[in-house]
Amino acid sequence: MTSTPPNESAAEPLAASASDTADAINAAPTQPVPRKLRADGTVPFMRTIKSFVKRAGRTTFGQAKAFEDLGPQYLLPYQASAIDLEAALALSTGSAGQNAVNPIVLEIGFGMGEATAKIAQTLPETRFLCCEVHEPGVGALLKRIGENNITNIRICNHDAVEVIDNMLLPESLDGVHIFFPDPWHKTKHNKRRLIQSPLIAKLTQRLKVGGYLHCATDWEPYAQQILEVLTAEPRLKNRALATNPELLGYAPKPHYRPLTKFENRGIKLGHGVWDLVFERV
Ligand SMILES: C[S@@+](CC[C@H](N)C(=O)[O-])C[C@H]1O[C@@H](n2cnc3c(N)ncnc32)[C@H](O)[C@@H]1O
Repeated sequence: MTSTPPNESAAEPLAASASDTADAINAAPTQPVPRKLRADGTVPFMRTIKSFVKRAGRTTFGQAKAFEDLGPQYLLPYQASAIDLEAALALSTGSAGQNAVNPIVLEIGFGMGEATAKIAQTLPETRFLCCEVHEPGVGALLKRIGENNITNIRICNHDAVEVIDNMLLPESLDGVHIFFPDPWHKTKHNKRRLIQSPLIAKLTQRLKVGGYLHCATDWEPYAQQILEVLTAEPRLKNRALATNPELLGYAPKPHYRPLTKFENRGIKLGHGVWDLVFERV
């Protein structure tokens, strides 16, 4: 894993970061270590496979200041029990009744928050719950929130899988965004990919009927896997099949998803990007 701080000015291609972290994992023993019983005879907790490896990264002065100044208002602490999402994401401009008509979208893994901040500005009526484990990224998004007076984002600096498992009630979301999830290129690391059937089943259950799940990736084998997994979920319908059947299940890029610096660079190099938009039925 690189020790270069992934700060905004010298942002590394985020999709590449997974392969860096994957290289670090390469160095780890591949055989499961036999688990010894504790002295009291109980089995120690087994670590579940995570979709991320916490990258080393320096938090810049600006990000640290944003944490301090804006954290209390915009950070939603993780808790191991269900939350009142409507209350947690209430917009200060609206009454409770008005807020209820503002859609709630969960974003998983926003990186440095470039796309997230732009989307929140493009869709000011939508409330975003954004999960990210990478602290400098959380600081960077807080900084963007402050610089652009964004009010419709709350950030949970925690593993989104645990947030979904413990904090979110069924049918509480109007949308889910997963943009450029770590591709985990090597076959032996594919099991770390975020988008797999069990997580999609849980996310589908958290979506309201009519709600949507939007994924994007620049790694074709992962795009194919995502298409397979989403198609296999019986409570999801592929919106693109009705509107753009010629795209064979992939969707045109929805207007609200901006082209980030990273994606623009890839497109100039001739790399593809695949969007997938499915609806809860
Ligand atoms: C390749 S980056 C993409 C970032 C951003 N969506 C973009 O398009 O630039 C994937 C991000 O997902 C985050 N991530 C991976 N698994 C996660 C999880 N279970 N919960 C929260 N964040 C996660 C990683 O820390 C990383 O920042």
